[in-house]
Amino acid sequence: MIPQRIACIVGARPNFMKVAPVYQALAQRGLDVRLVHTGQHYDEKMSAVFFDDLGMPRPDSFLGVGSGSHAEQTARVMTGFDADCVQHQPDLVLVAGDVNSTIACALVAAKRGIAVGHIEAGLRSRDWSMPEEINRILTDQCSDLLLTPSPDGDENLLAEGVPAWRIRCVGNCMIDSLRAHLPAALALATPQGMGLVPKDYAVATLHRPSNVDDPSQLAALLTALGQVSMKLPVVFPIHPRTRARIEQAGLHVAPGIQLCEPLGYLQFLGLMAQARLVLTDSGGIQEETTALAVPCLTLRANTERPITVTQGSNILLGADPDAIEPAVVSILQGHGTSGRVPDLWDGHAAQRIADIVCAGFRTLLEG
Ligand code: UD1
Repeated sequence: MIPQRIACIVGARPNFMKVAPVYQALAQRGLDVRLVHTGQHYDEKMSAVFFDDLGMPRPDSFLGVGSGSHAEQTARVMTGFDADCVQHQPDLVLVAGDVNSTIACALVAAKRGIAVGHIEAGLRSRDWSMPEEINRILTDQCSDLLLTPSPDGDENLLAEGVPAWRIRCVGNCMIDSLRAHLPAALALATPQGMGLVPKDYAVATLHRPSNVDDPSQLAALLTALGQVSMKLPVVFPIHPRTRARIEQAGLHVAPGIQLCEPLGYLQFLGLMAQARLVLTDSGGIQEETTALAVPCLTLRANTERPITVTQGSNILLGADPDAIEPAVVSILQGHGTSGRVPDLWDGHAAQRIADIVCAGFRTLLEG
């Protein structure tokens, strides 16, 4: 049976570029697909600009949950989405990634007996202190269809006892968006507009609680980025959470670090694509730099995306700020790797998902 009504969920910034191509592929096939925005991210620069940049329609439902503790935020998404399900009766809910909106909507759908498909299933950091790891594991447990970006996802799910027939390795939807929008992103000439020379600057992003919520860790990371900025300009689009923590702790930002507001999708993609290197604690940026063959230093102790290290351009540097400057020097001396792009990160992941949905989702689940 082909699903009659599909709800695609977005909530936070990293959802938009994963869901946009899937929504478009399903809509192109004439399926009845609704876009539900939970409102987890609500600032213009964290949300609305992505709809414009990615050519997404306005959401059909906006739940307006906003910020709060994990419990408050997750509960508000659940209450809002439950009412939305009652009103619109989806028979398939597609969630993406690992944010609070992902687990909240998956749980609502599972409890209502609605089929759940998880885009970006199977990733594991093995770090239970990360809220995203809890969200990933529980979302996968709630899901009927597990759509993985790479074979390590399949292996993780199989090892956890998920039946093989529920798992489909479809590739990376985020890279679908990257490939579709890279020409427009480059045409914006974002580095030049910021006074930067292509291939002669670094991009930094930080927002993980483990890096920014502890003032001494955040101060040490800012000091290290200051050292890097003496070697090449560092542009640092700053997440609202990180800006708030810097202000609360009264921390100093070196003058060589160019702080800016969060950038839109096209601006950030253009900036990243032409960087000499990227320093980040983001998950998605590890994948995007691998697709762009730009060296990436990941400022975390672990990654749920090991394929970016084993095949791509990512180096898992760890959380020690003292490791940053030597690693940057090594890349500037030509020791960075551009790696290769993993299989199925080819711009067609969303079409593969649409193929699976159109082939008859329930038939698939019944084996
Ligand atoms: C969330 C995701 C994280 C993802 C990140 C991308 C969870 C558990 N975490 O983290 O996996 O990598 O999004 O950005 O879902 N804020 C604003 N405006 C906004 C959104 C947030 O000012 O539009 C501020 C608020 O002070 C809020 C804080 O940022 O309390 C954190 O936002 P929240 O959605 O709780 O988590 P993120 O850190 O953004």
